Amino acid sequence: MTTRAKLVAANWKMNGNRAENERWLQHFLAAPARCAAVVCPPYPYVPQVVEALARGACGVGAQNLSEHAAGAWTGEVSAQMLVDCGVSWVIVGHSERRAACGETNEIVAHKAQRAVAAGLRPIVCVGETLQEREQGRTQQVVAAQLDAVLRVCTVAQVLPGAIAYEPVWAIGTGRTASPQQAQEVHAAIRRQLAQHDAAGAAALRLLYGGSVKPGNAAELFAQDDIDGGLIGGASLVAADFLAICAAAS
Ligand code: PGA
Repeated sequence: MTTRAKLVAANWKMNGNRAENERWLQHFLAAPARCAAVVCPPYPYVPQVVEALARGACGVGAQNLSEHAAGAWTGEVSAQMLVDCGVSWVIVGHSERRAACGETNEIVAHKAQRAVAAGLRPIVCVGETLQEREQGRTQQVVAAQLDAVLRVCTVAQVLPGAIAYEPVWAIGTGRTASPQQAQEVHAAIRRQLAQHDAAGAAALRLLYGGSVKPGNAAELFAQDDIDGGLIGGASLVAADFLAICAAAS
């Protein structure tokens, strides 16, 4: 039996501007009750989104944080600063940052550690590339990514947040993992978590990300171990994001 309430998170990536965001937020706020949701805007728009969503139940997340606490790290943003600005969630180890910004499993683990120490709810991203999947290494790659985090964080510390399985080949490509492919990896992630903490593993939300759209969300979210989604492209259109939230509720 599961008590995991569905969660849908919007990852706006490097998109938006004040005017567009305002329209999105008005549309979102005008809609009826839905599943638990989190919106992750680019850093400069965090205050705008925090202010707009203050009166609702929707969480606000950042897309990244520094692995360092404070000091001479030009351009970086610390966990404490995010908390100070009203942020309660943070995406950690997104594959775009792993691939383009050199975030190794160890860096991602340190970031997760910083996040939980500051009281942020981490959305820890894991996922294999197409080449790794074709080589039959999906489980191994995902397990190593998760293992690095579990060496420095307990399942209980990650529990307020989520793990997001995002196959790299499905992100922004329009190519979605089949519900069965996603469920298979989600189940393996939960088994790995259970080796550390059975009760925590049963309670931790596992999100799927990678070309989730209003048309495929319900089928994905119906899988036993898929507890919601991390939504990129489709989250930029408020109506689509709301439709995905509705599919989760
Ligand atoms: P996508 O992105 O929904 O555009 O595939 C998902 C993500 O990168 O989190």
